[in-house]
Amino acid sequence: MGMFDNFLQHDETVFKEQLVLDYEYLPHILKFRENQQQYIANLLKPLFSSKMSSNILITGSPGIGKTACCRHILREMENFSDKIYGIYINCWKQDTSYKVLVDICHQLGYKWTANKKTNELMNEISKIVNKKAAVIIMDEVDKLKEEQIIYQLLEDLFRKSLILITNNKEFLATLDQRTKSRLIPEVIEFVPYSYKETYDILYERKKFAFYENVFPDDLFEHIAQKASDEKDIRIGLFLLKETGNATELRSSKKVSQEDIEKAISKVSSFQQTKTILDDEEKELLVMIKNNPGSSSSEIYTLYNQKFNKTDRTFRRKISTLKESDLINVTEERVNGTLMPYFFPKESNS
Ligand SMILES: Nc1ncnc2c1ncn2[C@@H]1O[C@H](COP(=O)(O)OP(=O)(O)OP(=O)(O)O)[C@@H](O)[C@H]1O
Ligand SMILES: [Mg+2]
Repeated sequence: MGMFDNFLQHDETVFKEQLVLDYEYLPHILKFRENQQQYIANLLKPLFSSKMSSNILITGSPGIGKTACCRHILREMENFSDKIYGIYINCWKQDTSYKVLVDICHQLGYKWTANKKTNELMNEISKIVNKKAAVIIMDEVDKLKEEQIIYQLLEDLFRKSLILITNNKEFLATLDQRTKSRLIPEVIEFVPYSYKETYDILYERKKFAFYENVFPDDLFEHIAQKASDEKDIRIGLFLLKETGNATELRSSKKVSQEDIEKAISKVSSFQQTKTILDDEEKELLVMIKNNPGSSSSEIYTLYNQKFNKTDRTFRRKISTLKESDLINVTEERVNGTLMPYFFPKESNS
């Protein structure tokens, strides 16, 4: 081998196909989620024969295939039949009733949304969907600012299944009773992948992403291990990408131990971006930090003075802070009823 054989030329790259390391990339086969996919498909089956179907609530921690699994099902469903509309909404992006409805209209091919009010949009959607059936996935559903839209879809659409996805296990409890009693979902909890499964999933991505001989298997194991420790496939994808970038930065054709270490040192900053609070949640956290140990009603008074929002919205925001591990909640009995008290977590104060 010549002295310079291991050096990348200026127009060369270690990546054969970097796209497959994107978090949004949907692999053709979703291994290790076959059972969940089959279970969901069975729940949706009645829609194909114009019957009513169940609603579904999917919970589980970040980066374990909840979104991928549901998008996969939509894709298969669309290939199988045109009797059912498949709709995917990201409620982080579409966080109001109006935005959700406009997005649904566009996915249904209805373009005349300009100047229409929320109820007019809902009418147009009902007219289209009620001739057939629909599966509507509402991903990151806890990020919705108005839960009214869930109630509306449940009320106005006949043959449909709402699939709600959230990290927040307590999401159902935050819903209004009227919505809850119409939803009555089948709850499916996704659990993190084992080490072996994490290894296989990431190995497949590595194989398609990098040229042969770039990434030695023994070094790849560190990445699989880290992703498995963190129980998050997305962290594995981040590490593969960052490692490749570090290798290119050295103008090398082969990944080294140092490249992996450099990538792993960046994981904590990547993880911090996982918890993205909205502005109200951030303000609420500051209120709790400034008044540690205050009761729920004291904090609600402050919150309400500033934002003029319902108690239910407040409870949902508190629930997000709790799920994001930013606050502790203790309960004490006051005059016969349980009163929650909020404390900021040490590491975040
Ligand atoms: N079984 C699998 N096979 C191949 N890729 C997978 C599998 N499970 C997850 N992934 C990949 O891991 C990444 C994270 O998965 P996904 O986006 O579905 O996570 P999530 O559970 O929805 O997380 P979050 O709660 O943060 O939204 C995606 O790029 C996805 O393609
Ligand atoms: Mg997701």
